[in-house]
Amino acid sequence: MRKPLLCALQGEVLLQPPVWLMRQAGRYLPEYRELRAEAVDFLNFCYRPELASEATLQPVRRYGMDAAIVFSDILVIPDAMGVDISFVEGQGPVLKPIDDYSSLSVDSVTEYLSPVYETLRRVVTALPESCTLIGFAGAPWTLATYMIEGGTSRDFSTIKRQALSEPDNFSSLLMLLVEAVAEHLMAQVKAGAEVLQIFDSWAGVVPAEAFARCCLAPVAEITRRIKYRYPNVPIIAFPRGAGIGYQGYATTTGVDGLSLDSSIPTKWGAMLDATTVQGNLDPQSLVVGGEQMALAARKILADMAGRSFIFNLGHGVVPETPVENVAELISLVRDSPT
Ligand code: CP3
Repeated sequence: MRKPLLCALQGEVLLQPPVWLMRQAGRYLPEYRELRAEAVDFLNFCYRPELASEATLQPVRRYGMDAAIVFSDILVIPDAMGVDISFVEGQGPVLKPIDDYSSLSVDSVTEYLSPVYETLRRVVTALPESCTLIGFAGAPWTLATYMIEGGTSRDFSTIKRQALSEPDNFSSLLMLLVEAVAEHLMAQVKAGAEVLQIFDSWAGVVPAEAFARCCLAPVAEITRRIKYRYPNVPIIAFPRGAGIGYQGYATTTGVDGLSLDSSIPTKWGAMLDATTVQGNLDPQSLVVGGEQMALAARKILADMAGRSFIFNLGHGVVPETPVENVAELISLVRDSPT
């Protein structure tokens, strides 16, 4: 059979749009919390294929989504490049900020990340036949924010100053990251990923004058390298918070799909010049559930009717999400009259 997610990414308008959720695996699931207790820390969990493959499959088993996204993290790339990184419980990622890029190397990235590819190989053999396997990575700009700010930032002052005052030096970091991200994504395809998603979670903080060089150009170069080797593997980009910058992503990067964040009015998002758009229910709407969620989801479906579309959230599932709300959302999308 033809997989619904792949059909949508080829531009087909399906009667029922495929559905999956960013961060569909994770702490809101009791079976994830139980499995997570077996690892010493989060990165250790990511690098144990027997645990990571099981975490990938948990939401698919429970809800039957149209896609599985490999359980890993965007920050495995800085880790593989030699950045000192840890995940502190209740605080998120903590990285030793870098100022000298010459100590970073991309040479052993795919060797270091071989457990991630092993996870993909395991998931492939266990996936329902209609379910598509997604590989992913962070976009260079977003990875650079964590590497330069040392974690999740409040105002991104350090990276902004650097990007604006030392454009050539900053470009050299972005180019290193282009290389690492492209290699990591292609290795995931080799291991069984059928679709790739690039998370540019902090695209929305880039000053407009620097958007083309910091966000568009690196993603366009990654896409060019992947399409050269794997022309038929669709790529989705998620430039969260980019606002009208979404148009540039659609017209200049060469990606197939655009994942809309929740601030994008769906009628506007539907008109973007991309093969497919994906999104964009607010994750807090999924926490609230009930009639509010049903109305919001139905409005998205109505606005996207007649265009190739993938139902998703506008950002990741949050830990407070009631498990029954996810079941309700999936069946609502599946039962929607179109
Ligand atoms: O189903 C899935 O999507 C799971 C795979 C996945 C994770 N992270 C697992 C994870 C994916 C696709 C990501 C992407 C990711 N990671 C992004 C891009 C998407 C987004 O949210 O904007 C970003 C920015 C990160 C970086 C990151 N990882 C942060 C800031 C944090 C701490 C905050 C948090 O949500 O806990 C993480 C940790 C993380 N990544 C967890 C999971 C399940 C929680 C840690 C744990 O379970 O102990």
